[in-house]
Amino acid sequence: MKTHGAENLSFESIVASGPNSAMPHAMPSGRKLEKGDFVTMDFGCLYQGYCSDMTRTVMIGKANDKQKEIYNTVLEAQLAALDALKGGMRGCDVDKVARDIIAKAGYGEYFGHGLGHSVGLYIHEEPRLSMLCKETILPNMIETVEPGIYVPGFGGVRIEDMVVVTAEGCRNLAHSPKELIEL
Ligand code: GLY
Ligand code: MN
Ligand code: MN
Repeated sequence: MKTHGAENLSFESIVASGPNSAMPHAMPSGRKLEKGDFVTMDFGCLYQGYCSDMTRTVMIGKANDKQKEIYNTVLEAQLAALDALKGGMRGCDVDKVARDIIAKAGYGEYFGHGLGHSVGLYIHEEPRLSMLCKETILPNMIETVEPGIYVPGFGGVRIEDMVVVTAEGCRNLAHSPKELIEL
């Protein structure tokens, strides 16, 4: 980020592995990475006074069936929300697109935060893409789309992109791949 001109981080980077990945704002610990861990990396920088924000989750070793199901459910929810998001929608309606997919897969109780938030001079700005937000999302707003599933003691997955809202849809500012990477 520094090489590309970042002035600072936009927030303290989050890197969480194994059971810690089940905590959306996990703090670092001395735990070493192990085969079978999800590793969630959530980070962003400050560039010309504005914040950025993105998350990717990767797998150490091969994912088991439950891990694949969780990862693919989060990915499906994220892609559906990105597909639906456009200017004129209420924040709660965008949230619902992702939340319904996660709930249908049986993980509704494990998606314990809003789908996303506006980003600008601050990392978290209003309006939000959340169940409670009745405000309208307008063209040119910058939003994150970051569904997650967090299973206590097991681990969690979050996938987060930052997009520019348009009248017809949205333009994704993140270009990193999102299929499950097994390292
Ligand atoms: N870690 C802050 C966020 O993604 O909203
Ligand atoms: Mn983030
Ligand atoms: Mn975010």
